[in-house]
Amino acid sequence: MTLKLPVLVTGGAGYIGSHAVLALVDAGWPVAVIDNLTTGFKFAIPGDVPFYEGDIEDAELLARIFSEQGMTGGQGAIMHFAGSVVVPESVENPLKYYHNNTAKSRALADAAVKAGVPHFIFSSTAATYGIPEVSPVREDVPRQPINPYGMSKLMTELMLADVSAAHPLNYCALRYFNVAGADPEARTGQSTAGATHLIKVAVEAALGKRDAVSIFGSDYDTPDGTGVRDYIHVSDLAAAHVLALEALIAQPGRSLTMNCGYGRGFSVLEVLDAVDRVTNLTIERRMEGRRAGDPDSLISDNRRIRETLPWEPKFADLDTIVSHAVQWERKLGGMRSRA
Ligand code: UFG
Repeated sequence: MTLKLPVLVTGGAGYIGSHAVLALVDAGWPVAVIDNLTTGFKFAIPGDVPFYEGDIEDAELLARIFSEQGMTGGQGAIMHFAGSVVVPESVENPLKYYHNNTAKSRALADAAVKAGVPHFIFSSTAATYGIPEVSPVREDVPRQPINPYGMSKLMTELMLADVSAAHPLNYCALRYFNVAGADPEARTGQSTAGATHLIKVAVEAALGKRDAVSIFGSDYDTPDGTGVRDYIHVSDLAAAHVLALEALIAQPGRSLTMNCGYGRGFSVLEVLDAVDRVTNLTIERRMEGRRAGDPDSLISDNRRIRETLPWEPKFADLDTIVSHAVQWERKLGGMRSRA
């Protein structure tokens, strides 16, 4: 059995980070969260998890957290989710992305090295691939991000590789495909307003929070002409982080880079059909032109993670992903109307 070291989750009040906090707590790991609450929500963190409101570039704060949480002197791990995630915004404001995703990750890695924190898990993205020539996409294809978001994450991956070669720290970069759904018990979910991601948008439309869903392009080289993506349930993704942490602890000399996806894709139309089916409603669909920078199809080759970790996805069924997203959206609506 793995020794359960204290884990600091950065961005633990955000969408994916808050699911990772639950996965760690459920499995009995000691957890603390740092989040600056620019896009996260305090309600997403269980009340008994130590919470530090602040920034990951605040070296003094990090040193205090590492000491208070018993993470100094070769103990502990960092799961690093804090960052900015909106691709079009990264095109308009690249320096924000190089600051929040690259420079702040550098500051965090620096603090980890100085305190002797030996394990580091990093939220990376399929956006590091750009528009891959071959799909399903393997981890070892050339990485050619087509936007500053993907580049800012790739730069952090490259930095971590160098840091792990020079210092007693191993890391795991997990490249997420399309993350969706919510905690099956609706303890947390995607809460940020102004979402652009397809499943969140479609669920909002089904619940009357939007008039319709735009379909961005129907002339793609896919079976029904709409874009195909590998949607992964956020709780399966969170579970992969816990397993990755165990793998880092078990082999301190080994770092890992792995796709996180199911290795299958659904089109925009298939997703909208699932939302109609799950809610028993018919969402209004509007055909529109292509959105800039969208690949036809983006599907993970997930052989590496399946071979490396004992990862058994539980929620890969599309209707399950959608129904958990709907359940959370209903609860969120109730919370907002009470606020
Ligand atoms: N789409 C629509 N209508 C919408 C929203 C999306 O038709 O209202 C389509 C898109 O064109 C695409 C698919 O649904 O074909 C999925 O789009 P999302 O916006 O949900 O997700 P992306 O695939 O664009 O983005 C994901 C991650 C990003 C990451 C990117 C890498 O969410 O963080 O993959 O390519 F950068």
